[in-house]
Amino acid sequence: MRRTHVISTGFRVPDRVITNDELASMMDTSDEWIRQRSGIAERRWVEEGEAGSDLGAGAASLALERAGMTADDLDCLIVATLSPDHFFPGTGVFLQRKLGIRDIPCLDVRNQCTGFLYGLSVADAWIRTGRYARVLLVGTEVHSTGLHKNDFGRDTAVLFGDGAGAVILGPAEDGRGNRNGSGSQRGILSVHIHADGRFAEKLWVEAPASKYNPLITHGHIDAGLTCPRMDGREVFRQAVSRMPQAVHEALDAEGLSIDDVDMLIAHQANLRICQMVQRALKLPDHRVYNNIQRYGNTTAASLPIALHECVEEGRLQRGDLLCLTAFGSGFTWGSALIRW
Ligand code: ACO
Repeated sequence: MRRTHVISTGFRVPDRVITNDELASMMDTSDEWIRQRSGIAERRWVEEGEAGSDLGAGAASLALERAGMTADDLDCLIVATLSPDHFFPGTGVFLQRKLGIRDIPCLDVRNQCTGFLYGLSVADAWIRTGRYARVLLVGTEVHSTGLHKNDFGRDTAVLFGDGAGAVILGPAEDGRGNRNGSGSQRGILSVHIHADGRFAEKLWVEAPASKYNPLITHGHIDAGLTCPRMDGREVFRQAVSRMPQAVHEALDAEGLSIDDVDMLIAHQANLRICQMVQRALKLPDHRVYNNIQRYGNTTAASLPIALHECVEEGRLQRGDLLCLTAFGSGFTWGSALIRW
């Protein structure tokens, strides 16, 4: 069966930089507290009216340019986000419209920080089986409009940022060509995804919710139900065990070991979490990539943004074994192995 490979990457973050000191002017926090607990120095926030589909279109346009393709070359579009432009329809159709294309299917993925891996899993299956040949996969988030920028919401307000990343996926044109000379095929080796709904309320936004009638009230707002709520200790505890577990699952499935991994990109949840994952996997600094310091946690966009920057900085070479892993709300988690 043919393999899927990453044809190109792209990203787009808003121009507006928000430093920790600026946050400290809005709520009771400090640059020192934020850096120490999360490693984050700054993040980006959209300007009024700038939507996730705008950021996604920017990331997609760069990926198309890098691939030497136009939007008309795409067969399918997948958008992963936990912050859709609207309740419905999904962000996919708004993004499609902004790219100036029609008729191709748009799939919206709602798996939070693991959304990019869920999307990758679907795209890989479609490409392998020949259903679609050119798939655009975008992770895009606008958190800043939903964060509670006050003392009540400070635990999450300091963590999340806005941004988008994109990849264009297609069938590998050949099954060879890696510098390690092992003859192993280029492309996605496997994707592994998981979920455990017992923890659904450990990291969530409770309202607006169709479960309530009406779905949003002043009472919901006053009670803080529209604010992202997180059990930080539980998230930390599970994230640092689930991600290494998922990495080993992928390596075992391919008969590989951690020594074979040239680059690990973990979901940029929190630098402390990423460092614990790195330590658990016993990987040296030069074999991991982190950029949360500059963008904060961009949930579904964090992996494709980090992947794009990793590629642009020349940290990934053809033939390298790339491992992606993520953990997030749901709880959901997963991993992917890609022969670059
Ligand atoms: N600035 C200053 N103080 C804050 C802030 C803030 N932004 N947010 C919370 N605090 C306060 C709390 O109110 C609490 O105060 P209290 O003790 O007076 O009640 C105190 O800081 C808690 O701090 P710690 O003692 O460090 O508490 P803990 O050890 O529980 O750590 C923390 C909390 C830092 C959130 C930790 O649980 C953590 O890092 N969790 C991971 C959460 C995370 O990074 N999630 C990423 C997003 S989810 C994802 O992508 C998967």
